Amino acid sequence: MSYSPTKSPLPFIKDLVSAFLMNTPSSNFLEESWNTHGQKEFLFSRSSHALRFLAKLRLDYSSKERISIWIPAYFCDESLLLLRNENVKIFFYPILDNGSPNIDEIQKKLNKENTPDLLLVTHFFGKVIDLKESIEFANSLNAWIVEDGAHLLKKNENLGFESDFLFYSPHKLIAVPDGSILLMNKKRLSHCNSNRFRSIYEEYIDNSTSNTGDLILWIIKRLMQKIGLRKRSKASLDIFKDINRESNEAFRGPRISILSLKLLSLFDDFDYECVRRKTNYIFWRKLFLDNELYGEEIFSLGKAECPYMFAIRFKDESELSRAIQIMNDKHIPVSSWPDLPKEVLAEDTCFKDSIDLKRQTIFLPIHSSLRSDQI
Ligand SMILES: Cc1ncc(COP(=O)(O)O)c(C=O)c1O
Repeated sequence: MSYSPTKSPLPFIKDLVSAFLMNTPSSNFLEESWNTHGQKEFLFSRSSHALRFLAKLRLDYSSKERISIWIPAYFCDESLLLLRNENVKIFFYPILDNGSPNIDEIQKKLNKENTPDLLLVTHFFGKVIDLKESIEFANSLNAWIVEDGAHLLKKNENLGFESDFLFYSPHKLIAVPDGSILLMNKKRLSHCNSNRFRSIYEEYIDNSTSNTGDLILWIIKRLMQKIGLRKRSKASLDIFKDINRESNEAFRGPRISILSLKLLSLFDDFDYECVRRKTNYIFWRKLFLDNELYGEEIFSLGKAECPYMFAIRFKDESELSRAIQIMNDKHIPVSSWPDLPKEVLAEDTCFKDSIDLKRQTIFLPIHSSLRSDQI
């Protein structure tokens, strides 16, 4: 059977066995790799839950009926489905080429009704953006600024100390079934009642549905992939169609699983993961060039300490189609940005850049379980 890479990293059997044998760790291990400045931690299964929880906190803190949240236009709508259950009004803003918010455009759209309570800024694809302008803007409006580190592997000294909140989604980069780490900046939010925040968290977590079925499925899938049983899906231009998903497919309950906590505590080879990701990234770059596929790398490797994925854009549809065909022939799983919010698609002039980015970019995995020497 020829090798074909998986979209997600695979766990080591020895780690799975250790996880089943060990006691549940306390969350102290998070300080090593994620919790830079001794921030307050809130753990979830997915960062979509962290986002919903943040809305709950701000609604409670501001005593407003409804709050306004500003989100980058290049954002997966599926990740907003939980947030939309709260009494929030979501506004979208265009991003610059490096992923930073286009503050000038936000300023132009600002009015009494949409003044942000929360401003979400995303460090896309592992590239940490400069927050200075966003912080000044959020401070001037008394908005909370939330750093979205869903595409970041671990902490870095520039993360989380200027903003109010920062979250990571380790399940996207490490072989764990679920896991989101939300950190609250105690210094900036020293005036808030942290006991109150904790009880809102407990209430959210306690009322949750169980993710046991998803966990069992995750283990079975990963074990099958480890022995070489892999789905070989063939992609086509259909992956770029604008389809809005109506539900979050997995990990609907907000509580982080004990298995993830254990596997996260066992994971310590961050440097190896980063090196492998960079090597695989460069491997894909070369493969495209060798096949005379001259696309534009978006959020390219550049200054990323640890890249999230290889993302390459083809403005010409026939080139996009040829790239997909070549990847299909090599059994390489390609994907697209999953979806965009309907509000973004409806404003196709204002958000043209994000819409084009979504319709013209393909993604390839670069995680450390990918064996470029076998492709
Ligand atoms: C930039 C970004 N932020 C947040 C999320 C939500 O993360 P999670 O899958 O942990 O809910 C995603 C998910 O794809 C994402 O791409």
